[in-house]
Amino acid sequence: MDTSKPLSTTIAGQKLESCIFNASGPKCTTQEELDALGQSAAGAILSKSATLEYRAGNEKPRYYETEWGSINSMGLPNEGYEFYANYAAKAVTHNKPYIISVSGMSSEDNIHIVKELAGNENIAAIELNLSCPNLPGKPQTGYDFEQSRALLEKIFEVAGQPLGVKLPPYFDIPHFEMMAEVLNDFPISFATCINSIGNGLVIDTEEECVVIRPKHGFGGIGGDFIKPTALANVRKFYTLLKDDVDIIGVGGIKNGMDAFEHILCGAGAVQIGTQLMREGTDCFTRIASELQNIMRKKGYTSIDDFKGTLKNMDA
Ligand code: SIN
Repeated sequence: MDTSKPLSTTIAGQKLESCIFNASGPKCTTQEELDALGQSAAGAILSKSATLEYRAGNEKPRYYETEWGSINSMGLPNEGYEFYANYAAKAVTHNKPYIISVSGMSSEDNIHIVKELAGNENIAAIELNLSCPNLPGKPQTGYDFEQSRALLEKIFEVAGQPLGVKLPPYFDIPHFEMMAEVLNDFPISFATCINSIGNGLVIDTEEECVVIRPKHGFGGIGGDFIKPTALANVRKFYTLLKDDVDIIGVGGIKNGMDAFEHILCGAGAVQIGTQLMREGTDCFTRIASELQNIMRKKGYTSIDDFKGTLKNMDA
């Protein structure tokens, strides 16, 4: 471990100089946004979830912020996977891993995209999104354990890069165990916990109206409110998945202490969503500096010093 870089980490066999980077969601869709991530203090560049073709996404307004977080029903607006594959040549000039998020509209699309990306050496890893809650008529794959297994069986026949999964939040202990049982049967490199809490509702009481247009106002919840659920998912999958599977924590991280909590639960890296939307890419420098201050005060010189060391009261 390089003690001159206390936030360095390894995810999917790739070295990241900082364990803090963007969630696949806000500000990672266009070339300009990907360049800004490359130039920022983010430890990696993660693309918006890519589909087979360009998608305009759901109708606007489709994102709304409150004091405690956000609700979105973006509907996977993205440039199509070929754009993100082509960007890989540019991404490597930023000297940090470039990860493509994949979220095909069907299993066949996912298999096709992962197969097409397989030969591209400038793509460090793939994050297979099993958890977008915002596609009308399409259930989240991660809540269907058999479908997840069937998809992963086919995906690993064609995958060329290390591949991880982005999971929805689980709320029931047997569900954590059932998904872990599926994932442990495959050579996944990482699990990203969690996507937004799907299908929440935020109301404008003045107008007595929902605040986003798609799906009668239903959308994925992010920000402060989801941190306890995110921490629980990070913790559970850290304890249930095979030792060589990295956990990436996402959900409710807006400062260094939030990142510290995720790492204490077992995250080897953390992603920023709502706060990146709010603050822009400066959030990576600020959160990194806050996390380093916390580590200095506690006498930790690397994130491995406290990763996963959360104590139980009966320990
Ligand atoms: C969206 O584009 O709807 C959000 C992506 C996701 O939640 O996976």
